[in-house]
Amino acid sequence: MARFQAPRGTRDLIPGEIERWQWVEAMARDVFDRYCYDEIRTPMFEDYELFARSSGEASEVVQKEMYRFTDQGDRDLALRPEGTAGVCRAYLEHGLASRGRIHRLWYMGPMFRYGRPQKGRYRQFWQIGAEIIGTPAPRADAEIIALFVDLFEAWGFEDLVVMVNSVGSPESRQAYAERLKAWLAPVATLLSPESQERLTRNPLRVLDSKHPTDLAILAGKQGGLDPSTMPHMLDELDAESREHFEAVRSELESIEINSEIDHGLVRGLDYYTRTAFEVHDRSLGAQSALGGGGRYDRLIEELGGPATPGVGFSIGVDRVLLAMESRGDTLVKKAGTIFVASTEGTRPAAPAIVRALRAVYAVDHDLEARTLSAQMKSADKVEARVVMILGEDEWKQGQVVLRDMKTGSQTTANLDEMVESIDRILGSDREVESEEE
Ligand code: HAM
Repeated sequence: MARFQAPRGTRDLIPGEIERWQWVEAMARDVFDRYCYDEIRTPMFEDYELFARSSGEASEVVQKEMYRFTDQGDRDLALRPEGTAGVCRAYLEHGLASRGRIHRLWYMGPMFRYGRPQKGRYRQFWQIGAEIIGTPAPRADAEIIALFVDLFEAWGFEDLVVMVNSVGSPESRQAYAERLKAWLAPVATLLSPESQERLTRNPLRVLDSKHPTDLAILAGKQGGLDPSTMPHMLDELDAESREHFEAVRSELESIEINSEIDHGLVRGLDYYTRTAFEVHDRSLGAQSALGGGGRYDRLIEELGGPATPGVGFSIGVDRVLLAMESRGDTLVKKAGTIFVASTEGTRPAAPAIVRALRAVYAVDHDLEARTLSAQMKSADKVEARVVMILGEDEWKQGQVVLRDMKTGSQTTANLDEMVESIDRILGSDREVESEEE
C-alpha cells in the first residue's frame, strides 16, 4: 500500500474518471451562457464568522462540520462549506449593487464539510451553483428553478420533479417550530439522540433526519404519530409569503416545470426565507439530494449590507456523477486524436510536426524512440482516429502517410497540405454524423 493516502473523505479524480467531470462542467458552462449568467470565483476559505453568521450558529454545518483553523497571523478562518456566503460577501465588498440592480451569477468549485464520509457524502465535494441577487420577484425564483432543472436535463436526467416548499419569514418559521415541537412531543423520547437535540435547538431539522428510527416515527410506523396530522409550514405563512409562494408555483406551471409540494422540506442552512426547493435521486440511498436551494432575503443585510433579496441553488457534482453511473450512462468519449508515428530516419523531425499539429488537433506521439509497431500499438490504445506515419521514403519527397484508423485505408499527403488531408478524414465522420441525424 502506498505510504500516503488522500485524506479521509477526499478523492483523487484521475484520468478515466475526470473526463466525465469535464463533460458535466462543460455542459453546465454552456447552460449558464445561454441563461446569460456571469461566473464568479471566491476564495476557498473565508473568515469563520462569515459562515457562522450566514449558515446559522445552530446549524449542523457550523456546529459539527466546519473546517475551522487559525492561520499564522492568528486569523479565525474556515474552509468554505458552501458558496452562497462567499458570493454575498464579494457582492458587498465590490459594491456590485452600484453596477446594476440585479446580478445573475454562477460558480463551481470544491466545498468542505467535516461529516461522516459515505457514498455520496465527502469532506471535500464539488458544487455547481447559481444566484440571482437583487430582486424579490417570484419570476426570479421560477427562473432559478428552471435553470436548476435545465442543468439536470443537459446532463441527461429526465422527468425530474422539483420538490418545493416555503419556509416563510423567520417569525412564521418560529411559530411553525412551536407547533411542530408540540406535535412531536408524544414521541420526543423515542427520537434518535440527534433529533432530540434538534427538537430543542432547531425543531424543523427533525424533518430532515435520515436516522431510520426518526424516519419510521415520521412515517407513523412507530410511536403512534399520524403523519396526516403533521402541521404544515404553508399553514403558518404570513400573507405576503403565501402570495409569493403561489406566484412562484404559477410561474413554474407556465414554463412547464413539474414541481410538487414537500411539507417536510426545510433545508439545512439557516439563511432561507420563503421559497425552498430540492431534487432527489432515490438510487443514491440516504444521501439522495442532488441539489437544492431557495430564497435568502435577509442574508445580505445580516452580513452588514443594505436589505437585498437573493435566490439560488447548488448542485452536488459528486452525486450527479454517482447518479449518472447508476443509470448506466456510458463514458463520454474524447474527441479522436491524431497519433504521429516516426521511423529511425524521421525521428528528429517528429517533434516539430507534432507541435505544429497541436495548434489544431489533439496530438499524441512517442517519447522514447520505440519501433513503429510499438507506436502503432500505442495509437490503438489511445484510440487515435488518424495515424500520421513519417516514413523515410515519403519524407524525402515532402510527404507523409495518413492512416484512417476507422477504415484502415492509407493515403499519402503533401506535408504542406497535411491539415487539409486530415480534415478530409475527420470530415467524413461529420458527414456520417449528419446523415445519422
Ligand atoms: P446544500 O443543500 O447544503 O445547499 O448543498 C447543495 C448540494 O450539495 C446538496 O444537495 C448535495 O448534493 C451537495 N452536498 C452537500 N454536502 C455534501 C457532501 N458532504 N458530499 C457531497 N455532496 C454534498 C447549499 O450549499 C446552498 N449554498 C445552496 C444555495 C445556493 N442556496 C441558495 N443559493
